[in-house]
Amino acid sequence: MTLPAPPCRAEPPGPASTAAVITGLGGCLPPTKITNGQLVREGLDTSDEWIRTRTGIRTRHRAGPGVSTADLAVAAGRAALHSANRTHTGIVLVATTTPDRLCPATGPEVATRLGLTGTPAFDLSAVCSGFLYAANVASALLTSGAFDSALVIGAETYSTIIDPRDRNTAVIFGDGAGAVCLERGSAADPGAFLRFDLGSDGARSDLIAIADGGSRSPHRGEPPPADRFFRMRGPEVYKQAVLRMTSSARTVLALAEWPLPAVEAFIGHQANQRILDAVAQRLRVPPERCHGNLRHVGNTAAASIPLAMADAAARHVVEPGARTLLTAFGGGLTWASAAMTWPAAATTYLLPERRPPQGDHHE
Ligand code: COA
Repeated sequence: MTLPAPPCRAEPPGPASTAAVITGLGGCLPPTKITNGQLVREGLDTSDEWIRTRTGIRTRHRAGPGVSTADLAVAAGRAALHSANRTHTGIVLVATTTPDRLCPATGPEVATRLGLTGTPAFDLSAVCSGFLYAANVASALLTSGAFDSALVIGAETYSTIIDPRDRNTAVIFGDGAGAVCLERGSAADPGAFLRFDLGSDGARSDLIAIADGGSRSPHRGEPPPADRFFRMRGPEVYKQAVLRMTSSARTVLALAEWPLPAVEAFIGHQANQRILDAVAQRLRVPPERCHGNLRHVGNTAAASIPLAMADAAARHVVEPGARTLLTAFGGGLTWASAAMTWPAAATTYLLPERRPPQGDHHE
């Protein structure tokens, strides 16, 4: 029997290599901001001081009744297309843990509401690593020649799956969407994705889960409330997040052949400031090169990385072309990192777009 050849690790892309390049950045944050004090006033057993010192979060956004993940995704997608000065794209990927429905996927509705009916569109679920997973898939589709452009959106309404009485999760998560337009270009272009590292460990799927509603536990009558909500084993997730983001970041830097001091900008999944500080410290990235918006938006799961990028681009804190390291970790478990150069695109923000009335159609 012939053994399969070991995986081939290609040379890092040279400047002339084809690459997926970010040419547009968009974001959508629902206008309702919830402060830590407000969570306390709503009856959550916590305090502003605990949340600030243990997580670094001060506010998060809440979509509110009648506003869905697709409503945020459409706005962020439209913003990214506007930023890229485009009216069409080859394929639409929506990374989300909170799709509008279990079936069908959110992507086709988002594409149609963006005026892109006919464009292939699908959802991808990798929890908080979802955006980087989707960016890698889109990047491979562009560099293979299958498509010449893509719209990658990370969108979430965690307020719809969080138990408002669970202080372990209610203080952390927020709603929002971020999006990027990708076009096939060269590795020398600002905004080029150069290398990815992805991984998963299904043996630890219990650390972050919604117990009810899937095929293992289909809806049968009224499930116990605890099973309907997103549950997280916080301290264990914390340790795994530090471990996995650090090792994945190291792997992608090795693939890109970037020594650690070469990293000019670092954006980690905006989960908890203590996690981000621990990862940056292990990677020896100085604080002035770390960027994020955690204190204003909390953990927006699949929307976290593109929203943090949109925020940094809007504040002009990173030079186009700067060597940038992105890393994320989420339920699954999943983790993902990317080595890229900072895009030249400017950020556009839009407010959520409510779905137009559907006439007599039944859903
Ligand atoms: N308000 C007040 N007290 C709280 C609290 C809250 N919101 N949450 C927990 N506590 C209490 C605990 O009951 C415990 O009290 P005790 O010492 O009297 O038993 C104490 O604070 C420490 O609890 P612990 O759960 O160990 O806190 P922590 O420092 O690990 O912080 C998280 C909790 C959830 C903020 C932290 O574990 C975390 O950020 N985890 C990862 C979250 C994440 O990134 N999730 C997404 C991954 S994609």
